[in-house]
Amino acid sequence: MNLNYKLEIMNTSHQPVMLNTAINNLNIISDGTYIDCTFGRGGHSKKILNKIGLNGKLIAIDKDQEAEYCARKNFKNDKRFIFERSNFSNILNIVEKHNQSKKVNGILLDLGVSSPQLDNAERGFSFMKEGPLDMRMDTSSNLTALAWLREADVKEISIVLKKYGEEKYSYKISKSIKKALEENLLHTTVDLSKVINECYPKRTSYKKNPATKSFQAIRIFINKELQELEKILDDCLKIMEIGGRLVVISFHSLEDRIVKNFINNHSTNKNIISKLPIKNISQNLNLKKVKTPLNATQEEIKENIRARSAKIRVAERI
Ligand SMILES: C[S@@+](CC[C@H](N)C(=O)[O-])C[C@H]1O[C@@H](n2cnc3c(N)ncnc32)[C@H](O)[C@@H]1O
Repeated sequence: MNLNYKLEIMNTSHQPVMLNTAINNLNIISDGTYIDCTFGRGGHSKKILNKIGLNGKLIAIDKDQEAEYCARKNFKNDKRFIFERSNFSNILNIVEKHNQSKKVNGILLDLGVSSPQLDNAERGFSFMKEGPLDMRMDTSSNLTALAWLREADVKEISIVLKKYGEEKYSYKISKSIKKALEENLLHTTVDLSKVINECYPKRTSYKKNPATKSFQAIRIFINKELQELEKILDDCLKIMEIGGRLVVISFHSLEDRIVKNFINNHSTNKNIISKLPIKNISQNLNLKKVKTPLNATQEEIKENIRARSAKIRVAERI
């Protein structure tokens, strides 16, 4: 890593979303062990460290190398802090490695991308800034967005745009993407945005840029975001202490639906056939729903526009 790169990382920041609501709902105890699964630039981690005592512990995870650099630089002197660069779906191995008891008192997930990821054109997440079509949170993984668009066929691309972006022009856009690739006209984020915009009916303006949904879809697919989420939710149940809290901040309906269904399935017995013995019913109930969903206040939204679409769900291990 050269010096310019280091400076660029240090200059980028992320304003944590719904910081106080998220941390208060973790119900932090002084000597507890907590996991921040999405370290980013450490806004939530810092607040957790301020709340735990000398015998408390925070394990932070992020798959992004710049997040790792920031964590190692800013928290290196804090003995209570451990960082792992990894997919958060690897949580069972990480807890096994770092926590003798194999149990934790709270788990935080602040889903999606960080502001530095979005703001750095080189990362290729934003259609507003010209950069390579990359979109990998973990830049050591193989598949960039461009590589995938090259190898996938029209049908595959169309399915992804529909499933993860709820894009109604998915087929038309996919055909245009493949055509632009064949004609060597598609290299950057701005090229892709142009291809998508041309598939939409001509109008003076749209509420949101037509490229929004497709960019979201491709990003979710490249980073396996929903599979990661489903896996970690199941694994959380295996490592949460009784009374421990799970706090999830999500930013779009696909994520929120997964979290909502997961909490509902584990906190109510409505899906269980009534003939089952009581013993079996209670075995399936391992979470208590805690006043959800929570939204950002108008003040928070004024200060941080990303908070507008944020939703927090909280569950307690029983
Ligand atoms: C919204 S940001 C978190 C911001 C953080 N709470 C803060 O205050 O700075 C989400 C972060 O989670 C990371 N991330 C997303 N999905 C991940 C996954 N499956 N495994 C590991 N890290 C992930 C991203 O790289 C990004 O840095």
